[in-house]
Amino acid sequence: MNALSLKQQVILSGIGSQVAENVITNEALEKLVDTSDEWIRTRTGIHQRRQASDHQAASDLATEAAFKALAAAGIEASDLGAIIVATSTPDMIFPSTACVLQKNLKAFHAFAYDLSAACAGFLFALSNGAQYIENGVCRHVLVVGVDLMTRIVDMQDRNTCVLFGDGAGAVVLSGSTTTQGLLGTQLGSDGRFGDILQVPAGGSRIPLTAETLPLRQHYIQMNGSEVFKMAVRAMEQAALNLLKDTDTPLTAIDWLVPHQANRRIIETLGKRLQVPSEKVFMNLQHYGNMSAASIPVALDEAWQQGFIKPGQLVLMLAFGGGLTWGASLLRWTR
Ligand code: ACO
Repeated sequence: MNALSLKQQVILSGIGSQVAENVITNEALEKLVDTSDEWIRTRTGIHQRRQASDHQAASDLATEAAFKALAAAGIEASDLGAIIVATSTPDMIFPSTACVLQKNLKAFHAFAYDLSAACAGFLFALSNGAQYIENGVCRHVLVVGVDLMTRIVDMQDRNTCVLFGDGAGAVVLSGSTTTQGLLGTQLGSDGRFGDILQVPAGGSRIPLTAETLPLRQHYIQMNGSEVFKMAVRAMEQAALNLLKDTDTPLTAIDWLVPHQANRRIIETLGKRLQVPSEKVFMNLQHYGNMSAASIPVALDEAWQQGFIKPGQLVLMLAFGGGLTWGASLLRWTR
């Protein structure tokens, strides 16, 4: 840990991402379940998704993304004070994926842990990491969102298997006394609706045994239309609360980078918030829903492809199982 005495502002000093290499097209899924390319495209906007190889785990994609983020930040892994990994698909129950990542990076001055907030995990981890910097606990924090969702979707369930993909995104948060990058965050949860999006088995409630395995409860179960409605409502409210708290007019937003779950959710959200479609970044057509990785991968691509420019204001919105949701406002300082 690096102790700092001055109150720090938080900037995003580096970003990197790594999606899985194997491409699974909608046509390939037509051979597995009763679906069609046309249905998937019109209902979700997804054209293809990525799938990790059998030998890969979450930490492998996370490591690739993290090395890129460190290089972009111009710091060494040994400069990191903390590593936080948001994931629902860790390598194993323990050690945490963050500790595996620490070993891979040789970031031995950092403390490391995983955080579970499903698809909203990256914004929870971002807020968590930022507080270590603001409070002088760390100088640099690595925040990673990684998920290998194809490991937990039921390839016999057309309701879910078409939606998800595998990837990782990483950012380095650093302290600054002069510049403010992260302007604010709103987080929310509502455990009363946990059952509309869940993986019931594989934990201490329903341990995985030869008896429970055929029930297929170790795969994602989802009430799609309920998730759709609640996702729009929660992200809209989080955005409005955050803009009010930070005294930011909606017209000041240059880019909306939402969780990449479904084009229709994003378009509905954009309309309700009155953000013009040309300010909304979307890459879900290529990758599907990569859960905790979706926002950092989208942010990295929006930056690499020249959409986001230094000085611009970026609003990130996330929603996931739990239920969990969040909004973060970022002044792009790179
Ligand atoms: N191919 C063909 N038909 C399908 C498929 C498929 N892949 N999946 C479902 N259907 C069928 C259903 O069985 C249903 O058939 P039925 O009327 O005979 O029962 C029909 O399509 C309509 O189902 P709906 O659920 O009404 O379809 P909807 O228009 O709501 O779209 C979808 C479904 C895409 C899942 C939508 O509800 C959605 O996107 N919800 C959000 C879910 C989401 O994004 N989850 C990701 C995790 S959470 C998060 O990251 C935000």
